[in-house]
Amino acid sequence: MLEARGIAKAFGAHEVLSGVSLDVERGELVSIIGPSGCGKSTFLRCLNLLEQPDRGMIRIEGVEIDRDGPQKRWTRADEAQAHRLRAHVGMVFQSFNLFPHRTVLENVIMAPLAVKNVPRAQATEVARDLLDKVGLKGTADRYPLTLSGGQQQRAAIARALAMKPAVMLYDEPTSALDPEVAEEVLAVMRQLDHDGMTQIVVTHDMRFARAASDRVLFLDHGRVVEEGDPDVMFAHPSDERTRRFLRSVL
Ligand SMILES: Nc1ncnc2c1ncn2[C@@H]1O[C@H](COP(=O)(O)OP(=O)(O)OP(=O)(O)O)[C@@H](O)[C@H]1O
Ligand SMILES: [Mg+2]
Repeated sequence: MLEARGIAKAFGAHEVLSGVSLDVERGELVSIIGPSGCGKSTFLRCLNLLEQPDRGMIRIEGVEIDRDGPQKRWTRADEAQAHRLRAHVGMVFQSFNLFPHRTVLENVIMAPLAVKNVPRAQATEVARDLLDKVGLKGTADRYPLTLSGGQQQRAAIARALAMKPAVMLYDEPTSALDPEVAEEVLAVMRQLDHDGMTQIVVTHDMRFARAASDRVLFLDHGRVVEEGDPDVMFAHPSDERTRRFLRSVL
C-alpha cells in the first residue's frame, strides 16, 4: 500500500538521503532505526511530502509522486498531488504538537471539520470513540498542558486517526517520555497494529522495534544498510555497521 523508490534528498551540498526504498504492506508495522543524523526524520518527512524529495517515487494508496521524470521543478500539479497523498497519511511527532489553547476534543475534531467538512456532531462522536480507544476517556474537555506527556501523545495519535489515514508515521513518539508513560503510548500502537493499521515508526526504542515490528530498516548515512525480520536482525545482523550500531545502543 506504500511504496517509496530511490528517495534522495540533499540540503545544499549535504546529501542526507541517497536513494532510500521501502515497500510496506497493509497492516505492517515497520520500524526505522539508525544513528542520529542518518536521515530517519528526513525520510519520514519525504514520505509525507513535508520535504520535497530531489529524486525518487512515492506511492501511497495509489497516489503517486514521481521525481525521476524530466520535470524537476515542483509544480502546482505536484503540490495538488502531494495534498491528495497527505490525506492518506497521519503523522505523530516527538513533541506532540497539540494546539495548547484548544481542548483535547477540539484538537481531535479540528482537521475533520476544516478539511473534510464533517458535521460537528459526527466529528465529535468519532473523536470521543477515538479518545476512548487510546485510553483518554474523560479528558475531552481538558487542555493539553494539563495532561501528562503520555496522555498528550495519545491525544496526538487520536487526532491523526480522526482523519482516517491509511498509514500512520511516527517520529520518535516516545523519546520525550518517561519509560512507564512511553509504555502507554507503545501499547496504543500495538493495539492499532492488532486492528490492522499500517504503521512506520522511527524509534530509538530497540525493545519496541524488536518486539512489535514486522520488519526493521537500519539506515546509516542516508542509505538502507540492512532490512528484515527484527529477531534475525537483532540476533544476527549481517552488516558490520548494523552490528556496531546495535552494540552501541543495546
Ligand atoms: N531543513 C534542513 N536543512 C539543513 N539540514 C537539514 C535539514 N533537516 C535535516 N538536516 C540535516 O540532515 C541530516 C539528517 O537529519 P535527520 O533529522 O533526518 O536525522 P535523524 O536520523 O532523524 O537524526 P535523529 O536521530 O537525531 O533525529 C542531519 O545532518 C541534519 O542536520
Ligand atoms: Mg530524527
